[in-house]
Amino acid sequence: MTQPLKLGVLISGSGSNLQSIIDNIEKGALTATIKIVICNNPHSFGITRAQKHGLPVTVLKHDDFRTREDFDEELIQILRNNEIDLVVLAGFMRILTSAFLKAFPQKIINIHPALLPSFPGTHGQKDAFEYGVKFSGCTVHFVDEGVDTGPIIIQSVVPVLQDDTRETLAARILKEEHRIYPQAIQYFADGKIIITGRKVHIKDASETPLMALHNPSLTGF
Ligand code: GAR
Repeated sequence: MTQPLKLGVLISGSGSNLQSIIDNIEKGALTATIKIVICNNPHSFGITRAQKHGLPVTVLKHDDFRTREDFDEELIQILRNNEIDLVVLAGFMRILTSAFLKAFPQKIINIHPALLPSFPGTHGQKDAFEYGVKFSGCTVHFVDEGVDTGPIIIQSVVPVLQDDTRETLAARILKEEHRIYPQAIQYFADGKIIITGRKVHIKDASETPLMALHNPSLTGF
């Protein structure tokens, strides 16, 4: 049997993506183990979620560090001490330094609540909603030096309905985040990910049927 992939999960907020990773590990769907949860916000509900499942949590307040580099150096040490295989950013609202990226090459992934490269940054759902797109979704990608610019592993598309609010759209997207993030981690655990430049190839992936989606639906055209 393959060894479970050792994860370091970084959070800042509610931790619902952390919860979906925990749940998928506990039900045996995801071959991984969470070695450490690191949180930069002492008020994050994600801390409670992690503790409830007996996971080690470190709270690292970035305000306690003089520079971004000092903060990231501490993060690197903690993750190295835990011998992690993959760094999972799950709603971690901090830009990482190049020292951090160099410490874990091609081993840092992030989830973003929009269809990248559209609507990067901190308000993906809101920006897509206000722009008036007819589809939005979420993206899991490798982290590179840019903001939400790294090679894309998997995306999920959801429709934007005419009576949606920011909240209903964000909830529809979040539900999909909870499905594609564990899937992306499992691809990694299975050694199925090949990165060539910007392109990510998933070995033996079952691909989506060749069809177009329309929103609103076509009336006979
Ligand atoms: C998620 O929607 C995630 O995609 C987003 O923060 C939320 C965290 O929720 N991340 C970003 O916007 C990163 N740019 P969670 O704490 O409940 O997992």
